[in-house]
Amino acid sequence: MSPQTRDASTEATETESPNLDFAGTTPYEDYVQADVLTHLQHLRSDDPGEMVFLVTTQVMELWFTVIVHEWETAAHALRRDDVPVAVAALKRSIRELDALNASWRPLAQLTPAQFNSYRGALGEGSGFQSAMYRRMEFLLGEKSASMLVPHRGAPRVHAELEKALHEPSLYDEVLALLARRGYAVPREVLERDLAKKYEPSDAVEAVWTELYSGDESGELARLGETLTDVGELVWRWRNDHLVATRRAMGSKTGTGGSAGVAWLEKRAVKNVFPELWTARSHV
Ligand code: HEM
Repeated sequence: MSPQTRDASTEATETESPNLDFAGTTPYEDYVQADVLTHLQHLRSDDPGEMVFLVTTQVMELWFTVIVHEWETAAHALRRDDVPVAVAALKRSIRELDALNASWRPLAQLTPAQFNSYRGALGEGSGFQSAMYRRMEFLLGEKSASMLVPHRGAPRVHAELEKALHEPSLYDEVLALLARRGYAVPREVLERDLAKKYEPSDAVEAVWTELYSGDESGELARLGETLTDVGELVWRWRNDHLVATRRAMGSKTGTGGSAGVAWLEKRAVKNVFPELWTARSHV
C-alpha cells in the first residue's frame, strides 16, 4: 500500500466509522437503558415459547405507556382549547395503536397445548392486573374505583391510578370543549361524577349528529372522526385479544379468576366514545 493510499484509508476509517471509545457506558445505553430493558425477561418455565409471550406482553405495556402519554397530551391541549395539538397527539396515537395491534401477531395462533406449557407458571397473573391498560380505559371514560383494588400493594401505581380516576377523561375534555363552543351538552354531563363510568346521553348524541350533518371539514367534525379512529382501534385490540384467548384456552377460566372468554366477550362489545357511533344512525 502506498503512503498515499494508507493516508486515504486511515482518513476514511476516521470519518466513516462510529466512535468505539467511551469512558463509561455508551451514550445510547444512558438514553435507552437497553441493558435494563433486555434483562427484564425473568422466565418462569423451561418452555421455549414463554419468551415471546412475556416479551409481547412487555411490548404491549410499553405501547400502553406511549398511548396514555398521547391521550394525556390531547386532554390537556383540549382543556386549553388547542385543538390542533390535541389532534396531532391523537393522530400519533392512531399509528401507535396500529403498532400495538400488530404486536398480536406472534401470539395470535397460540394453541392450547403450547399455552399450557407455561400457563401454570403464570399463577394468578393476568393482563387484567395491568395498571397502564386501566389508565387507558380511564382516559376513554371507562372509570371504575374497584379497578384500583388489585394495586393496593403498589403505592406508586395506586396513586397514579387514583389521580387518573378523579381526572376528566379525554372524552370529558372533548365534551367540555363542545360546550364552550356553544353546543348543547347538558349540565349533568359536564358536572358528572368523574370517578364513575361515562354513561351515554341522548343530548350528546344529538350534538354529534348536528356536527356530522354540517361541514365535514370543520375542526370539530374532524376531531370526532379522529376519536372514532381511536375508538375503532381500541375495539380491535379487545377483539384480537378475545380471538387469541379463544384459540389459546377455549372456554376455560382465566388465570385472573374470571370466566375467561365469556367475560372478555362482554368487555369487547362495548363501544368507545358511544355517541360517536350511535349518532351515525341519525345523520
Ligand atoms: C394469548 C394469550 C392470552 C390469553 C389466553 C389471555 C387471557 C386473558 C383472560 C382470560 C382475561 C380475563 C381475566 C382473567 O380471568 O385472567 C384477560 C384479560 C386481560 N388481558 Fe389477556 N390474555 C392473553 C394475552 C394478553 C396480552 C399479551 C396482554 C397484553 C398486555 C393481555 C392483556 C390483558 C388485559 C389488559 C386484560 C383485561 C381486559 C379488561 O379489563 O377488559 N392479555 N386475558
